[in-house]
Amino acid sequence: MRNIILTGDRPTGKLHLGHFVGSIRERIRLQNEVRYSKYYIMIADAQALTDNYDNPEKIRENIIEVMLDYLSCGLDPKKVVFFLQSSVPALTELTFYYQNLVSLNRLLRNPTVKSEINEKSFDKVGVPVGFATYPISQAADITAFDANLIPVGDDQEPMLEQTREIVRSFNRIYKTKVLRECQGIFPKNELCGRLPGLDGSAKMGKSLGNCIYLSDTTEQIKKKVNSIATFPRKLEEPGILENNILFIYLSCFCSDEHFTKFYPEFENLDALKSAYKKGGIGDGKIKTFLFNVLEDVLTPIRKSRKYWEENIGEVINILKQGNKKATASVNSMVRKVKKAMKIDYFSDPNFEQNLLQKYKTKN
Ligand code: TRP
Repeated sequence: MRNIILTGDRPTGKLHLGHFVGSIRERIRLQNEVRYSKYYIMIADAQALTDNYDNPEKIRENIIEVMLDYLSCGLDPKKVVFFLQSSVPALTELTFYYQNLVSLNRLLRNPTVKSEINEKSFDKVGVPVGFATYPISQAADITAFDANLIPVGDDQEPMLEQTREIVRSFNRIYKTKVLRECQGIFPKNELCGRLPGLDGSAKMGKSLGNCIYLSDTTEQIKKKVNSIATFPRKLEEPGILENNILFIYLSCFCSDEHFTKFYPEFENLDALKSAYKKGGIGDGKIKTFLFNVLEDVLTPIRKSRKYWEENIGEVINILKQGNKKATASVNSMVRKVKKAMKIDYFSDPNFEQNLLQKYKTKN
C-alpha cells in the first residue's frame, strides 16, 4: 500500500514542547525512516480562523512562525510539501459535500471539540458553525490527499475517528472505494502524547500560558524550569514521582547520553527515579538536570532557526512552491469524489449523450 503522510497545525502561535514531543518528533522519524510516496504538512490557517475569525492578524503573523518552527526542527523541504490550507480551495469544496454525511449530534459529541468549547469563551455569540464543523474539514484535508498516516498528538484521535466514519459513509452511500481510511501515528511514550503544562495542568497550551516554546531563549527556559511547582518536602524525605512534572518532562526528553553528559552519578532515568524515591535528592538538582536536557535538545533547533530567519526568502519560496504542488495534488481526488456523487456532469461524456438520446427519442 502506498503510504501518504499528512498532518498540520493551526497557526495560532509559535510551536511549543507539547507539539515537539506530541508529533514533531514522530514526523521527523517518519520523514527519515518510513517508506512513503508523498508527505504533506499543512498550516491549517482556515481551521485556525474558525475560532479566531475576529483576529485574522494573529493567524497571518503566525504562518511564518510555524514554518520557522517546522524547518528549524529538521523537517526537510526536500522531502515534505509544506502548504497553507486556505491556498487549496478544493478542501473547502470537499468539506461542503462531506457535511451531508455527519449529523449535528455526532459533531457535538466530539470530546476534543467539547473541551475546546469549554475552554474558549464563545458565550457572547455562541459557538460558530464553522468551529463545530471543523472535524469535517479535517476529514477533507486528509482524504483530499488520500493520506493514510497522520502523525498527531492524542487530542486529534477524535478527528481521525470522524474522518474514518465519513470515509465509510461516503464509500457505502456512493458505492465506491474512492476514499481510504487513515490511521494516527502517536508517540510511543504515552506521556508525550499530551504533555502537561508548566503549571501542572493537563495540557501545554498557548491560551493557558504554560508553555516552553521551541524558540525560547536559554534565559527564558531557565526561568520557566525554575518556576515549576514541586511538592514541598525536606531533602531527606522520599520524593514523590506520581504527577511530578519534572519527571514527566524528563521521561519525554532525556536520553541515557544526557545522563553521561550532565548527571553521571546515574546511568539512566530509572536509576535516578529509584534514588529520588528513597529521598536525599532535592528538586533543585532535578531542575538543573532538566534545564540541561532541554537546552541540549533546543540548542540545535535555535541555531537552525537563525539560519532560516536569515534566509526568510527561501522559507517564503518553500511555502509558495508547496501551495502549488498541494493544489495540483488534490485535483484527481476531487474529480473522483464528484464522479462518485454524480456531480461530474460535463466531464462525463455519457451524461450529455444520454440527454441527447432521451430527448431525441421523445421529440
Ligand atoms: N486540528 C489540527 C490542530 O489543531 C490541525 C489540522 C487540521 C490537522 N487539519 C489536519 C492535523 C489534518 C492533521 C490532519 O493542530
